[in-house]
Amino acid sequence: MTVGILASIIAALLLLQIAVAALVGLSRRKRRPAAIDVGQNSPQTQSPAGESALSGSGPQQARPAAWTGFREFRIARRVVEDRAGTICSYYLVPVDGLPLPAFKPGQYLTFRLTTEDPVTRQPKALVRCYSLSDRPRPDYYRVSIKRVLAPADRPEAPPGLSSNYFHDHVREGNILEVKAPSGHFYLMEEEPLPIVLVGGGIGITPMLSIVNTLLERGSRREIWLFYGVRNGSEAVLKSHLQRLDREHGNFHLQLCYSKPDKQEQAGIDYQHSGRVDIPLLRSTLKLMRYQFYVCGPKPMMESLVPGLASWRVESRDIFYESFGPATLIRHEKPMSVNAEPITVTFGQSDRRIAWSAKAASLLELAEENGVDVASGCRAGSCGSCQTRLIAGEVEYQQQPDAEIEPGHCLLCISTPKCDITLAA
Ligand SMILES: Cc1cc2nc3c(=O)[nH]c(=O)nc-3n(C[C@H](O)[C@H](O)[C@H](O)COP(=O)(O)OP(=O)(O)OC[C@H]3O[C@@H](n4cnc5c(N)ncnc54)[C@H](O)[C@@H]3O)c2cc1C
Ligand code: FES
Repeated sequence: MTVGILASIIAALLLLQIAVAALVGLSRRKRRPAAIDVGQNSPQTQSPAGESALSGSGPQQARPAAWTGFREFRIARRVVEDRAGTICSYYLVPVDGLPLPAFKPGQYLTFRLTTEDPVTRQPKALVRCYSLSDRPRPDYYRVSIKRVLAPADRPEAPPGLSSNYFHDHVREGNILEVKAPSGHFYLMEEEPLPIVLVGGGIGITPMLSIVNTLLERGSRREIWLFYGVRNGSEAVLKSHLQRLDREHGNFHLQLCYSKPDKQEQAGIDYQHSGRVDIPLLRSTLKLMRYQFYVCGPKPMMESLVPGLASWRVESRDIFYESFGPATLIRHEKPMSVNAEPITVTFGQSDRRIAWSAKAASLLELAEENGVDVASGCRAGSCGSCQTRLIAGEVEYQQQPDAEIEPGHCLLCISTPKCDITLAA
């Protein structure tokens, strides 16, 4: 064999090797996206029908715009979520079968129900809001509802109307009237900072939506979830959250039990004994900028939100929502300081009440003085506190989302500008 022939054979072998390597590389590149799609980034939550709902159902698909007014939804599935049996999830599919609009994780649905008035036994219309507790999907929404009992100091009072109606009467196959997702408490996506979510009791629901959305999208944002409950019997979707914590290096679950059961062990069943408070956040989190999202019972809100501000967290990084009476309304506009005393007259109730700047809104003034007014979202979205304004003028503390009929106002986000008379 001549040197020339030998060189040709070596060159041919080298070319063959390069071609094989290129082919293998190409096939690997093709397979990689499929592995990411199906794999580690997807919380394996199920669709109401029970099948995996991940494929092709991501929020990135083109989705229709929100509907106006109420739309009919069928309860496709109902799942009790906690050992105590006080929280139940409802999976809602649209009766018209059309795809659902996406929503911002943290937003809520508004329901119109007809229940029975506990005193008169007559049918009673109710409007209530429930946060979406899962990520956006085109085929169903999920809400998780806690049964509300009479207050401990008023055991003779009727238990919560809407929540007990859901638990006792709403079954698979029932049809409910629902307004499109809305609300101003939602995940801020513009600045992808690390986030700290604090959910107290049923205040976990918007946090579940935020966590499921971010992790399903494969977000690399650092996510801390401080979940405060009395003990494991009250923890909702605990195994789902623990699985996410195991599978995602950027998600840190911190279960905080204020009254752990005897058999529950710190470090195994939960991370912290006691309530979620500023010392706990300070000792757990690194010294860096986070966005804080807080939703929980009144005492938690009243201690944590001002506590974060005292800890020098800037107000642009604190987001919160209260499910109960608004004690911490964030005023987008500074309230006018009135030199003159203002009187608010509630016509139907025949009450004249001096306006107090301590009340965050006309709704709060009415409630504090025993004037019966309807409410739902307490954020200007659902329209249920809309009341006829007979005389005078109000000003809004934030932009109303609900459509307001001429001559009416939304009590939950307004304050009086002068003496006013309301129909309520
Ligand atoms: C934006 C938003 C999101 C929300 N998201 C969720 C969620 O995801 N999950 C959830 O479970 N809840 C959520 N809520 C709370 C929910 O909307 C309801 O407020 C809650 O279910 C209680 O409503 P209810 O009709 O059952 O109780 P209500 O009938 O409104 O009664 C409330 C309380 O008042 C007591 N009461 C009634 N009458 C009297 C009386 N005469 N004297 C003294 N006390 C009395 C009742 O016993 C009860 O304890 C949310 C609220 C908002 C505003
Ligand atoms: S309570 Fe919903 S708009 Fe006022």
